[in-house]
Amino acid sequence: MADKLYHGACFYPELWDENTIAQDIERMKQTGINVVRIGEFAWSKMEPEEGKIDLRFFTQIINRLYENGIETVLCTPTPTPPIWFSHGHPERMHVDQAGRLMNHGSRQHACTNNAYFRQKAAIITEALAKEAGRLPGVIAWQLDNEFKCHIAECMCASCKDQWHQWLEARYGTIDQLNEEWGTHIWSEYYHSFEQIPQPVATPFLHHSSLQTMYRLFESEKIAQFANEQAEIIRRYSDAPITHNSTLFFSVDNERLFENLDFASFDTYAPQAKMESYLLNCDVWRGLKKNTPYWVMETSTSYAASLESYANPHPNGYLRSEAVAAYALGGQGFCYWLWRQQRSGSELPHSAVLSTWGEPSVGYENVLQVEAARKEIEPIMVATKPVQADIAITYSDRARMFHLTEPHNGIEYKDLMTDLYKVFVNQGLHRDVLPEGGDLSGYKLLFTPLLPYVSDDYLERAKSFVEAGGIWIVGPMTGGRTKNHTIHTDRALGRLEEWAGVKTLFTFPMDEHTSAGQAFGKEAPLGLWSAVFEPAGAEARGFITKGVTPDKAFLTEHSVGKGKVVMLGSMPSGEEGKELVAAIIHHYAESAGVGVKTDVTAGTIVVPRQREDGQSIWVIVNMDGHGGTVTLPKAGRDSLNEELAEAGKLTIQPYEYKIIQFEKEGASE
Ligand code: GAL
Repeated sequence: MADKLYHGACFYPELWDENTIAQDIERMKQTGINVVRIGEFAWSKMEPEEGKIDLRFFTQIINRLYENGIETVLCTPTPTPPIWFSHGHPERMHVDQAGRLMNHGSRQHACTNNAYFRQKAAIITEALAKEAGRLPGVIAWQLDNEFKCHIAECMCASCKDQWHQWLEARYGTIDQLNEEWGTHIWSEYYHSFEQIPQPVATPFLHHSSLQTMYRLFESEKIAQFANEQAEIIRRYSDAPITHNSTLFFSVDNERLFENLDFASFDTYAPQAKMESYLLNCDVWRGLKKNTPYWVMETSTSYAASLESYANPHPNGYLRSEAVAAYALGGQGFCYWLWRQQRSGSELPHSAVLSTWGEPSVGYENVLQVEAARKEIEPIMVATKPVQADIAITYSDRARMFHLTEPHNGIEYKDLMTDLYKVFVNQGLHRDVLPEGGDLSGYKLLFTPLLPYVSDDYLERAKSFVEAGGIWIVGPMTGGRTKNHTIHTDRALGRLEEWAGVKTLFTFPMDEHTSAGQAFGKEAPLGLWSAVFEPAGAEARGFITKGVTPDKAFLTEHSVGKGKVVMLGSMPSGEEGKELVAAIIHHYAESAGVGVKTDVTAGTIVVPRQREDGQSIWVIVNMDGHGGTVTLPKAGRDSLNEELAEAGKLTIQPYEYKIIQFEKEGASE
């Protein structure tokens, strides 16, 4: 991919006549769209009859777009196998957890583990890669579309067989599985792998190990499917490969992206959830560090389908989203979709153009994005996001544990977003890393809501602490084993051994009757909690109300040159937010976190750097209210070339600024 910023839209030329396509290409040029994504649902156009593949329509479109200065992200069309695949073949279809067989008529109806599906998917992928893989217009590939966006784990017969094989490979013998899962509970003991059920309907809940392992199994299988497609494509094409994922599908993104070349995501978060948007940018930047991510889909104004719609973005917000995405490490910012659908199930969804070819309600905003893209491109390509001092671990595998064990409705992503917001609101620049993320160079590591802490993670966190880092662990971290059972030596397993605490109890704290105090703030405590008695550590937060008064919920223990801080409970409500903020603030200070600003909430500052060390700040107001930030030293406003003095800088509603600072050591 070229060193430039992409501004794109998802395009469905297969749905329109020649005249409309010609108009669309002209309009794209006027709008400044320099990339389109095509093909992800076009299997019936590519292979109208089984075995009769004709890709000329697509190769011609790709070439024609290219001649007009528009590049292409080409997709494999596998989320929508045509009717020749589905009709009369219930055994090829997805079966949901309630045992319902999916029918043709929407998307993701096929089971991606069905052998015949895999065979047909491989054939169409190979044909596409062969014919289009070396076209100059194809700058990247997207595999399929949003794996598991409408469906979770499949319960069909093919999956059942593969589940048994997967279990056998994981446990070796059935005795081992019985032992690790503790299957004599409720007479679940198995004599062979073939007897192990899928987590389909039962009178009450399934065993925790069985549920979590099934989620892991299916996420491994979808990643294998992605790998298989990527390998085929790589035989014929050098263009980098991605997939458009999100944080709420039934996939393990860390595993899914392991063999892909760059990360991309889709988001339709409304402005009210701007932290969720920022969290996405940070997560996807962290997943493939050093390789820019793409926002592959977002709405120009609002998302909608036949049954629902969101509210339109306020004018100005789209540009803030785009500048934030580019600043936080994005290379592409693309809309779903170019021209509003005239048929199907997403008729009311916003687009760049209306079905009848006129500018849509969001069009002016799209033009603003394009003007900003042009303006910031030179400086974005010349700089990279600075590594933060703070790393936060975000894990889809943790989410799987919470899905199996949601207690009173724990939503991992929502809780993570709330905690993440504390960092954003304090102007603390942060990286969000997967479990396997490299911890070198960080000063503070935060690991909330990770029920199972793997030995590998623990060892790396330990080295990080020994070398001088501060590790904040919890809430809800460490209480479950690899197999989703409870430790039998101590409540939090090996983690507890070197955190200098003894966990007395784990139980659900009632936030209406429990409270705790630390750093001069008191707040209700809630969620599944661990109550500590220091065993070497120092208690820093005490429980003031509830059934375990005077015990600790926050402890600190020196290990090597660093510290491990155990946070056993979740401070809740408004006071809880302040307490969490106080804890984070205190440990960020003691860890010497320096990459931070005093930016007001609703505005963000993204520090970036040139190769020669010169630093810039991209400042973007996201909430439409404007804000301020203190510049630590004088700089230059790169957009108007004016001097920016040290001290308070005001940002207008939805404004963005780029401040370029003098190099360290250079005279100002
Ligand atoms: C995405 C999907 C698109 C479109 C869009 C509507 O989830 O990938 O195809 O359905 O949502 O918001």
